[in-house]
Amino acid sequence: AIKTLTLVGGISRNSLNKKYFRSIQELSIPHFEFETFDISKLPFFSQDLEMDPPDIVSEFKDLIREAQAVLFISPEYNRSFPGVLKNAIDWGSRPYGQNLWNRKPAALLGASPGAIGTFGAQHHLRQVMAYLNMSVLGQPEMYFNASHAFDEQDRLTNEKTKELLLQYFAAFEEWIRLVGERTEDRED
Ligand code: FNR
Repeated sequence: AIKTLTLVGGISRNSLNKKYFRSIQELSIPHFEFETFDISKLPFFSQDLEMDPPDIVSEFKDLIREAQAVLFISPEYNRSFPGVLKNAIDWGSRPYGQNLWNRKPAALLGASPGAIGTFGAQHHLRQVMAYLNMSVLGQPEMYFNASHAFDEQDRLTNEKTKELLLQYFAAFEEWIRLVGERTEDRED
């Protein structure tokens, strides 16, 4: 299975994006093994800390190192992605010259109660991912208006959504295999 570090940008108790992630895990998508990390535990990034970071940061960095792929599931905040996710990404990119995101096969999803379904968030996030030299899946894209998507047990009710997710991860898997060969040569 492909060890996929999944970071969810929604940290509230009833986060739609946490539900989205849980429902993805429930789909038992073939060949994927999802791991996650609670990014709300990370301190604010500061260059005062980067050379000798707190243990929680080292733990986080080890997870990035070990991941064969990365998935971001992000809410949209003010047409961008939340600062708490940017903070986590910044930690993984430092110190200078030790960008752990480098060449990681990556994909991104997001859920919002709004009509554009995190389009704005995803496009800002893509820009950062490209800068960090992540190997980001281009297609398909998935924008999810999740206002009525979950039942009382937080399960996805729409079969079409599940089908789209399965297609999304099939494409992601193919992408990981395609770019994975060079990922295995990574030094950092
Ligand atoms: C939002 N929300 C929001 N929604 C959207 O579709 N586009 C946006 O630009 C914003 N902007 C925004 C800013 C801030 C500061 C907050 C708190 C919220 C609404 C947002 O999509 C909604 O609260 C989601 O439920 C957040 O995701 P989680 O935390 O539930 O996963």
